Amino acid sequence: MAMKRQAYKSTSCSNFLCIRYSTILSLILVFTSFFLFLAQLRHVREPLLWAGQARFHGDLRDAKFPWNKLCFGPTFKKLKLAVFSKTWPVGAAPGGMERHASTLYHALAARGHEIHVFTVPSNRRPQHDIHEGNLHVYFAANDHGSVNCSLAFEIFNKINASGAFDYVHTESVSLPYWRAKFLPNLAVTWHGIWYEIMHSKLFQELLVNPNEALPGPMTELQEAIPRLIDEIRFFSSYRQHICISTSAGEVLVNIYQLPQRNIHVILNGVDDAKFVQEPEAGAALRRKHGVPVNASLVMGVAGRLVRDKGHPLLYEAFSSIIKRHPGVFLLVAGSGPWRRRYAELGSNVMVLGALEPSELSKFYNALDVFVNPTLRPQGLDLTLIEAMHCGKPVLAPNYPSIVGTVVVNEGLGYTFSPNVKSFVDVLELVIRDGPEVLKRKGMACKEYALSMFTANKMASAYERFFLCMKDTRYCQYPLLTDC
Ligand SMILES: *[C@@H]1O[C@H](CO)[C@@H](O)[C@H](O)[C@H]1NC(C)=O
Ligand SMILES: *[C@@H]1O[C@H](CO)[C@@H](O)[C@H](O)[C@H]1NC(C)=O
Ligand SMILES: *[C@@H]1O[C@H](CO)[C@@H](O)[C@H](O)[C@H]1NC(C)=O
Repeated sequence: MAMKRQAYKSTSCSNFLCIRYSTILSLILVFTSFFLFLAQLRHVREPLLWAGQARFHGDLRDAKFPWNKLCFGPTFKKLKLAVFSKTWPVGAAPGGMERHASTLYHALAARGHEIHVFTVPSNRRPQHDIHEGNLHVYFAANDHGSVNCSLAFEIFNKINASGAFDYVHTESVSLPYWRAKFLPNLAVTWHGIWYEIMHSKLFQELLVNPNEALPGPMTELQEAIPRLIDEIRFFSSYRQHICISTSAGEVLVNIYQLPQRNIHVILNGVDDAKFVQEPEAGAALRRKHGVPVNASLVMGVAGRLVRDKGHPLLYEAFSSIIKRHPGVFLLVAGSGPWRRRYAELGSNVMVLGALEPSELSKFYNALDVFVNPTLRPQGLDLTLIEAMHCGKPVLAPNYPSIVGTVVVNEGLGYTFSPNVKSFVDVLELVIRDGPEVLKRKGMACKEYALSMFTANKMASAYERFFLCMKDTRYCQYPLLTDC
């Protein structure tokens, strides 16, 4: 109404009114462009925040989000660190935790820190110690092939005597709590906690015995409870705790009742030079394994083909899907008991066997969507992260560790409850979206993975963590050297 009146007045123009009209018009123009500018800023700022948590100022020990979100500058200070790890990868195909330890400590040693690792070889055979530049790996095995703590500590004390360690780090309980208790400068990284394992046993019980009135006597679920209680009691023997998902950090505060300031979230990263987008390599892999060119959608799953990785769930869901969608194909990378069951599903499933790490990137590239039906909500599955680096959207159960840290929004993929019906429903949705939408989500995945899950991001977060533990000045963020 006000506008109309102004417009009306301006037609019967006295000089004064004309000036007012033009002033109002320019004001409107100024405001409009200001709002447009603001709206644009919001669009620009979202990815910035995503990548950098640009607004965080303060003490890093108060951060409730992953340290990976921040950008830490270089440092000249060099640390001497002791590390306890259950195993160290020697020979073929390392598992998740070993791969994590090896990636992290190679990266920290490359940054000039002196790293001493106390561990045993993953192949459980006698092995010479490793000395590569700043990285020293001591194999201290007992008769069973696991770490002999007394022996490891003899070596530890010898090295500490010639220059004290700045900080000690243990991968899970590699250093048991009754020893950890006496080390004030110690942090532990939890790769899976019993609260999450209990969660996992709950799903397995529901899936395996959907119609039982009560769980059978002493199911794995019931056995998990005393383990959980024990864990809650001994966790406080460790001073500082690093979690690999935001949700595990919340559990340590809310259920395990540990002080918020001693809980830190640092996500695992993978070598993003090994997992890259290469569509030609993906197309070649499809041809090699005889995926028809007119396939409407190609899904893939990787890892050990065992029950608790969710293969019974995928088997059921996929056999129902191909009845309605004969153009959908499933590539299976890995070995294990479920291999033969998949072969029963006919020509829509191609079982590739276990792949070398170098072939894994090509495998992800051959897919439209990567599926991880795991029934184990603990930790962060590296395969999801690897697939994202290759520019592939992911489909995974809606566990807190996944929706809180990996598939944080619908733009990155799909989540479902770990039961067949929910899985089939979400597969229908994936098929309806089709390859073009999946490609778009895949690009968002790649961007997100590069901002959070690289080996470099992980190493610089750990570096800053150890610096902060040694000298609280490094707990401030941002420092002048930070980006
Ligand atoms: C562990 O190492 C100590 C010290 O070297 C040794 O006395 C002990 O026999 C070892 N224990 C086992 C189980 O190998
Ligand atoms: C390492 O050496 C320092 C300095 O000699 C000593 O104060 C510290 O207690 C030693 N650490 C352990 C865990 O023995
Ligand atoms: C793909 O092509 C084959 C052979 O030309 C044909 O039998 C099949 O029905 C086609 N599949 C789809 C999903 O179009």
